[in-house]
Amino acid sequence: MAQLHVDVNLKGNTKNGDNVRTADDIEECDFSKLLDKPRPLNIDRQRSCDERSLNELSIGLSPHLSCRNSDAFSRIIDHIDYVHSPIAGRKSGFNTPRSHVNVFEPHPTVAEAWDALRRSLVYFRGQPVGTIAALDNSEEELNYDQVFVRDFVPSALAFLMNGEPEIVKNFILKTLRLQSWEKKIDRFQLGEGVMPASFKVLHDPVRNYETLIADFGESAIGRVAPVDSGFWWIILLRAYTRSTGDSSLAEMPECQKGMRLILSLCLSEGFDTFPTLLCADGCCMIDRRMGVYGHPIEIQALFFMALRCALLLLKQDNEGKEFIERISKRLHALSYHIRSYFWLDLKQLNDIYRYKTEEYSHTAVNKFNVIPDSLPEWVFDFMPLRGGYFIGNVSPARMDFRWFCLGNCIAILSSLATPEQSTAIMDLIESRWEELVGEMPLKVCYPAIESHEWRIVTGCDPKNTRWSYHNGGSWPVLLWLLTAACIKTGRPQIARNAIELAETRLLKDNWPEYYDGKVGRYIGKQARKFQTWSVAGYLVAKMMLEDPSHLGMVALEEDKQMKPLMKRSNSWTF
Ligand code: GLC
Repeated sequence: MAQLHVDVNLKGNTKNGDNVRTADDIEECDFSKLLDKPRPLNIDRQRSCDERSLNELSIGLSPHLSCRNSDAFSRIIDHIDYVHSPIAGRKSGFNTPRSHVNVFEPHPTVAEAWDALRRSLVYFRGQPVGTIAALDNSEEELNYDQVFVRDFVPSALAFLMNGEPEIVKNFILKTLRLQSWEKKIDRFQLGEGVMPASFKVLHDPVRNYETLIADFGESAIGRVAPVDSGFWWIILLRAYTRSTGDSSLAEMPECQKGMRLILSLCLSEGFDTFPTLLCADGCCMIDRRMGVYGHPIEIQALFFMALRCALLLLKQDNEGKEFIERISKRLHALSYHIRSYFWLDLKQLNDIYRYKTEEYSHTAVNKFNVIPDSLPEWVFDFMPLRGGYFIGNVSPARMDFRWFCLGNCIAILSSLATPEQSTAIMDLIESRWEELVGEMPLKVCYPAIESHEWRIVTGCDPKNTRWSYHNGGSWPVLLWLLTAACIKTGRPQIARNAIELAETRLLKDNWPEYYDGKVGRYIGKQARKFQTWSVAGYLVAKMMLEDPSHLGMVALEEDKQMKPLMKRSNSWTF
C-alpha cells in the first residue's frame, strides 16, 4: 500500500494553536501533490490520534460547513487514512484498549464498554469468532445468545480500531464456511451465496466437542433470509483489508468465491425493471414485518456499498473479471436511480404534490404513477427548508416517505449520496434533531406508524407498536453510523452532541438494545440489556471521533465516473 507523508497537511493543527488551520485553509491545500509523492510514513500513529484529535482537526470548522468545505474535510480524512499504518505497532494489548491510552481523560463509560464487549466474546475451539447479541440473563434468550452477522459489524470495527484484527479474520472465515452449507427451508433450497443471519457454538459435553449451528432464515421469525448479511460480510472484509493493510485474506480463493456467490445472488437477471434489489419484508436489521419490502433504502444502500467494496476486493482473474464488469454497470444504474427517484427535498416534495397522474410513455414525468393524495400529512411538516433525505422505498405507485437512519447514513458513507445530498441529509438531521435524536440517538425510522396503518402494515405486531422497537424506536447502535457520516461530511459537532446524550444514560441503563417513545426517553418495552451492538456502536463512535482516520475503514470516496449521470433533477443543488 502506498504511504504518504501526512505531517504536511496536518501539522498546522498544532496543540498550542499557533498555526491553526481554518476550513478555508483546508480547502486551499493541494492534495493532489500529496498523492503524487508517496513517501514512507513517518508519523507515530499513536501520537497522531492522541494529539491530533478531531477537536483540533475541526478547529474553525463550523457545524454548518458549506458543501465545498465539508468535501475538503472528507478529503483530509481520506488522506489520513491513506497512511494507515499496518497492524504492527498498533496493538495495544488485549486488555488495554488503545483509547484508554489517551492524553485526555477518557469518559468512564469507555472502560465499562470495553469490559462489556470482551465479556460478549464467543469462542469456537479456543478461538474468538464473534460476539453474542446480548448478555442479558434476566430475559428469555430467544436467539440473542447467537452471533449475528449484522450485530458483529460494530464489534469488529471496535476490534480493528483497537489493533485486534484476529477475531475479525476468524469471523470472516467461519461465516464463509457456513455459507457453503446446504440451506433448506422446508423443502425449498436457498441460493448458494446466502450468508447466515446468525450462528451459535454448540458444545457436546459427552464428546467434548464443539460444532456450529447457523440460521439462514429457517429458524427466524417469519422465515426470511437476511439479505443484509452477505453485504455486511463484504463490507467487513474490505474494512479488515483497509485497516490491516493485509490483502491476503481477501485474495484467498475461498474469499473470492464467497464474494462471487453473494454477487451472483444479487446481480442475477430476472423480471426487474429497476436496478434496485427486490426483497421481502424483514430481511435486514428491521427483521419483522414493517412495510420494509420491495426496494427498501435500508437494503439498497448496503447493496451499493457492498458492490463498491467488492469492486475493490475482487481479483482481475478470469472469474473475477466478469463480475467486475457487471458490478460497474449495476453501480451506474443504481446510483442514477436512487439519487434521482429516492431523493426528497422541499422542491421534490412540491413537485410530487403537483404531479399529474396516469401518464403513459417515455415522456412521463411521474414515472411510477405516484398519486399525490398518497403523500402523508406529516411529511409536509417534517421537511425543512434546507435539507433532504432518501425516502424509504420507491415502487410502482408507492413511495414510502419514512426516514430510515441506516440507509441514509450508509448512503453518505458509500458516496451513493452526492456531496450535496450528504450535506442536505446532515442539515435535515440538525433541523429535525428533536424528532430523530431527541433524548437518545437514534431513531431507526421516522415517524412511527399507528392505528389502522399499524394493523395493516405490521399485521398487528405487539412488539412494533408506535414509537417502539422497529417502529420509531431509538437504537444506540446507530450512533456509530451517525458519527461516521458526521465525520465524512465535516460535521463532527453533531456526533459529539449525540454521543454526549448517549453517555448520560447508556451505562446507567445497562446498554439497552433500544429505547421507546417519541423522544426515546424510555428503555424499550422488550429491550434486552447488555446488547452488544449498543456497546460496540458507542465505542466505535468514540474511537472514530478521537481518531477520524478510522473513517477510511467504513467510507468510500465519491466515484467521479458516476458524476455526469446525476443530471435529471437539480432539486438538490442549492
Ligand atoms: C433483533 C433485531 C435485529 C438484530 C437481532 C439481534 O432481532 O431486530 O436487527 O440483529 O435482534 O440483536
